[in-house]
Amino acid sequence: MNVPINGRIDGPIAGPIGVFDSGLGGLTVLRAMIDLLPHESVMYFGDTARFPYGPKPSDEVLKYALEIGRLLVDHDARVVVVACNSAAAAALDVLAEELPVPVLGVIEPGMRAAAQATRTGKVGVIGTVGTIASGAYQRAAAEVDADIELTCAACPGFVEFVEAGDVDSEQVHILAERLLAPLQTVSVDTLVLGCTHYPLLARTIGDVMGPEVMLVSSADETALAVRDLLGTPPDGSAGRLGDHRFVTSGDVDTFGRLGARFLGPEVVHVEQWAWS
Ligand code: DGL
Repeated sequence: MNVPINGRIDGPIAGPIGVFDSGLGGLTVLRAMIDLLPHESVMYFGDTARFPYGPKPSDEVLKYALEIGRLLVDHDARVVVVACNSAAAAALDVLAEELPVPVLGVIEPGMRAAAQATRTGKVGVIGTVGTIASGAYQRAAAEVDADIELTCAACPGFVEFVEAGDVDSEQVHILAERLLAPLQTVSVDTLVLGCTHYPLLARTIGDVMGPEVMLVSSADETALAVRDLLGTPPDGSAGRLGDHRFVTSGDVDTFGRLGARFLGPEVVHVEQWAWS
């Protein structure tokens, strides 16, 4: 079912918001969603056993995204948030057609945030090889504001550092200096973190780009889009705290440790999922 971004599905809370990513990165989007919608229950799936998605062919990522989308719906998700740019670039349209619930991605929300932030119109986007090669940000920029002058750069290697818990070592800094150089050359004033892992590297990326460049993530705009979709919370939801369920296809202990560090105290218990 493809529900327009401004569509609303008012009604009693009847199932969690399903959220997924290739690993831990989608937790940056989940943080914004929990803060904005604390009464909502969520089920987060991190496909850590099969990350990274960015270097994989788009048909493989599409297959993974469909499997996870169906899994979330089978666990009663009433909305699916694709908190992974690489999966959104490869699979958002198909997911929206195939799943019987509304599906939201992160690419258009991120571009909207950038259009609001830029003063010069010179906007950079960094993402995985798959996301940048897909042209999804270029299309979103043209739709959101045709005057935006977009410069895109793939950042292979960033995701692997984050999944290893390394967000500010000398090695990450050296990699960031090399990968971000093309964006410094064209003097962007706004940089979209077009991979949900990258907000976890914001200090390193910000150090390299300098204080005059605004870093923009899709997290807040995506959370607002989810709120708009869900509409008015039902009576009795004020003060209620939703349940938070975390599932990974990878190592539960690593996910639990890094998840608690990156998201916060909501990560108490992590369930194992094994792909058959
Ligand atoms: N967080 C994913 C994204 O937004 C990371 C992709 C990957 O696993 O390479 O693109």
